[in-house]
Amino acid sequence: MLSTKMHEALNAQINAEYYSSYLYLSMAAHCQALNLTGFANWLRVQADEELIHALKFYDFILERGGRVTLGPIEAPASEWESPLAIFEATLAHEQYVTDRINKLVDLAIAESDHATNSFLQWFVNEQVEEEASAEAVLQKLKLVAGAPGGLFMLDQEMAQRPAAAAPAKAT
Ligand SMILES: [Fe+2]
Ligand SMILES: [Fe+2]
Repeated sequence: MLSTKMHEALNAQINAEYYSSYLYLSMAAHCQALNLTGFANWLRVQADEELIHALKFYDFILERGGRVTLGPIEAPASEWESPLAIFEATLAHEQYVTDRINKLVDLAIAESDHATNSFLQWFVNEQVEEEASAEAVLQKLKLVAGAPGGLFMLDQEMAQRPAAAAPAKAT
């Protein structure tokens, strides 16, 4: 059984993951409108991955005998100044999510909820990857510094990101 506090915190994380998806989908739409189709692809895949994260929390809560309550998803921004601004916002958002995951782990440890702690370790590792991939794109954008040729080449590279794996069904 999940404690009330843990249950509420995990439930809130479903919302945070859906918001992440919404944010990246909004960024993808913005890039698509600018004909940066590679950036749009990368962000669309990122948005899809966040949906998988949300469902992992959903499945886990149900598996532990908890009820899932879905709240409203906040509207994300719809415009950014530049691809650089998008990836600065992406990295900042992933750092915020890492902080949320760490706080969930802190709570699981405080409550000696080993099952939730074990479940959350997947997210601890995932956040290392999430921050690193946002940081990598950000560094490349700083390197090309808005030069159209560099941005065009980077856009082609971003087009290569493969689709996210379909979410696994709860066991
Ligand atoms: Fe996530
Ligand atoms: Fe993420």
